[in-house]
Amino acid sequence: MAVPGRYDTVEKYLEEVFDFLKTYQWVFSSPNTYVLVNKVFDQFPSEWLPFLSDLSNDELNELSVGVVSVHAPPSLQSFFQKINKLRFTLPKKISCEDFKFPNNSGLSNKKQHEIQSLAPLIHETCGRSDCDFIVDVGTGLGYLPRLLYDKYKYRVLGIEGCPQKFNLAKTKQKKYSDSDAAINYVEHFVTNESEHHIRQITKAFPMKHACITGLHACADLSVIILELFTKLEFCKSLVIMPCCYHRLKQTEDGFENFPVSNLLKELTTKSGVLRFLKTPFLRLACQGFVGGFGNMTPEEHLARTNSCLFRAVLEDVAQSG
Ligand SMILES: C[S@@+](CC[C@H](N)C(=O)[O-])C[C@H]1O[C@@H](n2cnc3c(N)ncnc32)[C@H](O)[C@@H]1O
Repeated sequence: MAVPGRYDTVEKYLEEVFDFLKTYQWVFSSPNTYVLVNKVFDQFPSEWLPFLSDLSNDELNELSVGVVSVHAPPSLQSFFQKINKLRFTLPKKISCEDFKFPNNSGLSNKKQHEIQSLAPLIHETCGRSDCDFIVDVGTGLGYLPRLLYDKYKYRVLGIEGCPQKFNLAKTKQKKYSDSDAAINYVEHFVTNESEHHIRQITKAFPMKHACITGLHACADLSVIILELFTKLEFCKSLVIMPCCYHRLKQTEDGFENFPVSNLLKELTTKSGVLRFLKTPFLRLACQGFVGGFGNMTPEEHLARTNSCLFRAVLEDVAQSG
């Protein structure tokens, strides 16, 4: 795991992260819909509210990307200094293919951007690991296989657990007769027990090595893919974009698949942070990129505030009735 340069070890970095999370757990412990019921605003340090209420729109935008005024209360400055110290810088800018999907493909701009960004990364990774075949788990309607074939001529196996999506992927495939032999779909709901089944299916496809991938591999599916990767010896590389962490399967005292790494398991148990790293915390990882807050207009701030607080008001009324 890469950590900001000023930390000697991952352990030291994570210990500071846990201290921060412990101190400010009131910020993220309640679901958005419960901020009024749980009186989250009462837990703000009293000197923050008058300062925050007086910010201009530009100052609010700057604050949300970590630029805090010297006139801010010291406790708020300290909060942002800690965030800035722990903040990660992504190692490199991800390149993006200019591939155009057909107009009637029904893809949102966001999804197009994700596919166009993930495909070059898969291609680069396959180059380094000598993979000429791709297993796309949770392939959905098969947009990623389409680009991987059209742009780079990979052969792809798309595995999809939902029968309707599997059928739609097959129907879409029929429009492109050129890729019949190169892109194949199977309907299979992948679990920890799928190793044997996937091994059997892939036997039909000649390959040097395979790369296993998943775009928006929801919640536990990402962890299942990681496990399969460790078991399937013909898979020499892995490119995965997990999502929906808040939907991870819960157990009596936490989550089945969080944390995943042994180091994180050990450190979280030692520090006791799992007591408050619950579903609302995991939901934070599904929020928009922080840069997206830096240029918001007053109207956009108001719309965002309303979409969060109206639901909180409804919950408050429902609970008090
Ligand atoms: C968020 S969608 C992403 C679809 C596609 N990868 C994309 O980005 O367009 C997740 C897909 O994974 C499928 N899925 C979820 N769990 C699965 C499992 N255990 N086995 C196979 N498919 C699964 C869902 O049916 C869905 O199509």
